[in-house]
Amino acid sequence: MANERAKRTKWVVGNWKMHGRLAENEALLRALLQAGSVTETVRIGVCVPAPYLAQTEALLRSGPLAWGVQDVSAYAHGAYTGETAAEMAAEFGATLAIVGHSERRAYHGETSEVVALKAQRALAAGLTPIVCVGETLQQRETGATQAVVGAQIDAVLDTLSVQELARIVVAYEPVWAIGTGKSATVDEAQQVHAFLRARLAAKDAGLGDVTLLYGGSVKPDNAEALFGQADIDGGLIGGASLKSHDFLAICMAASTARAV
Ligand code: 13P
Repeated sequence: MANERAKRTKWVVGNWKMHGRLAENEALLRALLQAGSVTETVRIGVCVPAPYLAQTEALLRSGPLAWGVQDVSAYAHGAYTGETAAEMAAEFGATLAIVGHSERRAYHGETSEVVALKAQRALAAGLTPIVCVGETLQQRETGATQAVVGAQIDAVLDTLSVQELARIVVAYEPVWAIGTGKSATVDEAQQVHAFLRARLAAKDAGLGDVTLLYGGSVKPDNAEALFGQADIDGGLIGGASLKSHDFLAICMAASTARAV
């Protein structure tokens, strides 16, 4: 599918997780606004803690960067204490919503079925859901990677319509690579991306063009090689997205990476 790759825009999205305070956010966001011409070829976004949406909107409103949240409720409104509705995030100009991050799956018991409903709610509110999938180290070592990520993506494929699916982004984030400094190798990542792309295309040929991001210890020194793989359209960046210099270097790598 390398020949189709040129049609797909590159993305780099920061996932701040539960980091930040008003003063540091402002310094970081102002630095990102210096991204310059790289924004012409790479879609750049930040997914911030929900309380900082208003601040993020105020700082990024007039620029080319997108912003969003790290989770949304599976419901539009109601008695769901502590949840953030996708519609609420959209009111603050958000266009992105991470759903199904492995930290949500592991610490908040989110099933793939709930993740699919969250993706659907995000779409209904006009947000682009970034649906995360990924296996644990034990699952990889027992040869279960494709079974695990296949089941995770199938829940989304079974719940959303083809029209809805055409508007999602999928992020492959091997759990063992998140925050560990141990990225998947380019071959390991590419293999799973090719598998996911084939799974999407099997549902509908048009879905072979869905944007597929890699996440897990992406750094300035490994980004270009990862993003140069045929089926890797960019990255979902954790720790390195908190350092403007590193994040901008990763964005630059997305603009210069060439498909192999
Ligand atoms: P790190 O880049 O810190 O490994 O985190 C990846 C991640 O979880 C992004 O969602």
